[in-house]
Amino acid sequence: MKATEIINHFNLTSHPEGGYYKETYRSKDEILSEDLGEKFEGNRNYCTSIYFLLTADKFSAFHKINQDEIWHFYTGTTLKLHMISPEGIYSFILIGNDFSKGEIPQFTVPAHHYFAAEVLEKNSFSFTGCTVSPGFDFRDFVLPSCEALSKEFPKHAKIIAKLTHH
Ligand code: GUN
Repeated sequence: MKATEIINHFNLTSHPEGGYYKETYRSKDEILSEDLGEKFEGNRNYCTSIYFLLTADKFSAFHKINQDEIWHFYTGTTLKLHMISPEGIYSFILIGNDFSKGEIPQFTVPAHHYFAAEVLEKNSFSFTGCTVSPGFDFRDFVLPSCEALSKEFPKHAKIIAKLTHH
């Protein structure tokens, strides 16, 4: 299937960070606020999961959440996942199925790391999944401007300018 067919088939909708998503799982039970770290405000479901599709003409902008996020590769082409740790260390990882080239089908972005993603091959897409525990909540979601993030990490201003929605 083409990207637009997958988007329609699974009813994906636009995500504020860029790309398309649909929540596929949200555990019924909740972790209570008092059992979560101080960064969380309110209760959270134990776990949530989404489909996530990114096309090569767009990117997923740098953002961070309070949870580790487990990425899974399904189909399409290589996704380059860029990260900036809270200490300001930049790294990237290639998510895909060309294992002999060092791509991996599963990767966990640590909590509180800013991360962004792009599809390397022109006119292509990458269809992945993301699982987080405690479950996803937009109260944990930080999507900074280019200016704010490059002020925090001036060393990485170039990649931040490329992968933020300004
Ligand atoms: N649900 C809505 N947005 C997101 C997201 O960015 N990541 C995860 N894991 N779940 C979401």
